[in-house]
Amino acid sequence: MKAIIPAAGLGTRFLPATKAQRKEMLPVLDRPVIQYVVEEALAADADEVIIINGSRKVALVEHFSPSPDLSEFLISKGKKMLADAVNHAGDLPVSFVDQDRPLGLGHAVHCAAAKTGKEPFYVLLGDVLVPDNQVLRRMLEVHKRYNGASVIAVIKVPREQVSRFGIIAGSQLREGLWKVNDLVEKPAVENAPSEYAIFGRYLLTPTVMELLAHTAPGAGGEIQLTDALKTLLTTEEMYAVAVDADEGFDTGTIETWLETNVRLAMRKPEFAQMLKDAITSVG
Ligand code: UTP
Repeated sequence: MKAIIPAAGLGTRFLPATKAQRKEMLPVLDRPVIQYVVEEALAADADEVIIINGSRKVALVEHFSPSPDLSEFLISKGKKMLADAVNHAGDLPVSFVDQDRPLGLGHAVHCAAAKTGKEPFYVLLGDVLVPDNQVLRRMLEVHKRYNGASVIAVIKVPREQVSRFGIIAGSQLREGLWKVNDLVEKPAVENAPSEYAIFGRYLLTPTVMELLAHTAPGAGGEIQLTDALKTLLTTEEMYAVAVDADEGFDTGTIETWLETNVRLAMRKPEFAQMLKDAITSVG
């Protein structure tokens, strides 16, 4: 199955850090966010990882290209582990498709239509992390169990925050699994059909690519993936798989990026104590 990673948005919520580079290239601990996302797709046996690239793309392409000079330099300095890390990033099998203008997530996904053809495909948002790589596997199981239906990931959000997200309506089949009836973009708190927000991972049928070709610009003047998925629900089934709060992380804003770094650093013995000490020392 092909995996599409849209990474061509403008990242305006993270300016000026994203003035000259993509927000997907910002580091979380030791590597850029998008490297985690590529590794997650490969861990789910994606046979091709397609990054949708936009402006300010040089660093991103360079990150996934071999750097023999840097590698040799590191080895000459006795830094083999760093050389291995550099070679690993340069050897990851990714391809690039350009989105000439950031016309929306739906448009970005459709840029890869020629690559996915008549096959189902994954979409992994390039600024969302699932470091233990388990969610796509659970989604694939549900996709197979329900005759190849589309499956989206969702995460529970506090009730008072539902109006910031796309929220699912549906019936719960078991713990962590829903059959989706509708998707409601940014509902008012009192009208929200659930507290489960769409969360950056999708396993979609080829019908979605067909629908995206005809999806008109929606909210914000952008071609929205959610609009195509709402249309999909009129003809095909869709399921939603829950991502646990300690399993999935957003990095698209300064606040969420900071929180993600802290949470993941606390899992690493080499950072955890230093971080606790630093936080305690500032009160
Ligand atoms: P976001 O809406 O979070 O990204 O899109 P953005 O538009 O870059 O963010 P802000 O609002 O300006 O801060 C989710 C993902 O979809 C990609 C983004 O790069 C991000 O990884 N995307 C979005 C595209 O590839 N193309 C687009 O036209 C829009």
